[in-house]
Amino acid sequence: MLIRVPRKNDPRPSEITPERIYRARREILKGTGAIAALSAVHASGLPSDWIESRGYAKHEPVPDLEITPSPYTTQYNNFYEFGTDKDDPMRYADEMTIDPWSVEVSGLVAKPGKFSLEDVLAGVDLEERIYRLRCVEAWSAVIPWVGFPVKKILDKYEPLGSAKYVKFTTHLNRDEMRGTRSFFSSIDFPYIEGLRLDEANHDLAIFAVGMYGDELLNQNGAPFRLVVPWKYGFKSIKSIVKIELMERQPPTTWNLSAPQEYGFYSNVNPEVDHPRWSQASERVLGSGLFARNQPTLMLNGYADQVASLYEGMNLRRN
Ligand code: MTE
Repeated sequence: MLIRVPRKNDPRPSEITPERIYRARREILKGTGAIAALSAVHASGLPSDWIESRGYAKHEPVPDLEITPSPYTTQYNNFYEFGTDKDDPMRYADEMTIDPWSVEVSGLVAKPGKFSLEDVLAGVDLEERIYRLRCVEAWSAVIPWVGFPVKKILDKYEPLGSAKYVKFTTHLNRDEMRGTRSFFSSIDFPYIEGLRLDEANHDLAIFAVGMYGDELLNQNGAPFRLVVPWKYGFKSIKSIVKIELMERQPPTTWNLSAPQEYGFYSNVNPEVDHPRWSQASERVLGSGLFARNQPTLMLNGYADQVASLYEGMNLRRN
């Protein structure tokens, strides 16, 4: 997240999308060899027609939300395990083995254990949620996720009364994740994130297993990831292998890396600038040559639903 020292040939953030996406698309259109196959890779840890066979409930379309076309959200990613350039995840994330996949549920739960992904997802109804995604780097997208409330999974393993926080951990395999072998990485691995338990239990917080009606691509966090739409995107941790219920607030990757820049809560707030750039507006992915900027909304437009979680808290400081 713009922590690394800029290199001479780095484009300015405002230039990145159109150029990179243009190049990535052109390569795919060329239709040859490995690159052509990259974004079609569909190793999900779940059978490739899993979502279709399960079916999912669609909600009413949200009037003001124009869905970002999928090439933008699958070819311009943050997944530092595969590198820090926006097209690194698209290029290299398919090196990650995600089948089989298991998830360890531990800490303050009545039913801890290590479970196969199929077990974790058994009996959970899928639904489509069209959400804004606002990255702390000041770009945004609108993505139709397929998933289910986090609470549905947590409840299965029965959090104890003493549990106040949830910690999530991303898969780590240094052989398959070239970004984790870099000496210049600005963050440590595995990537870890956390939520207060009442945030995790809020209906808007989901685990996604798909987007655009298909299983997640690896670069977007296959086979399953967190999506917390009212927080900056870095809270939405990808490719989760561990869920731990805790009494104390867990450490989180970006907070450990730069505590003066990234807090635990990291709710989207246009009134509190990042120390190095404004958070008042955002560049909408996919808005092409005439890149569209729009004002950023308090709590990313979800204030009506989630502001009550933070009553009495100083949102500026948090
Ligand atoms: N999860 C892991 N494990 N590693 C990462 O580098 N990047 C985060 C988040 N989840 C990241 C991660 C950031 S900064 C953002 S903005 C979102 O993923 C981007 O999700 P997307 O690439 O699917 O749009």
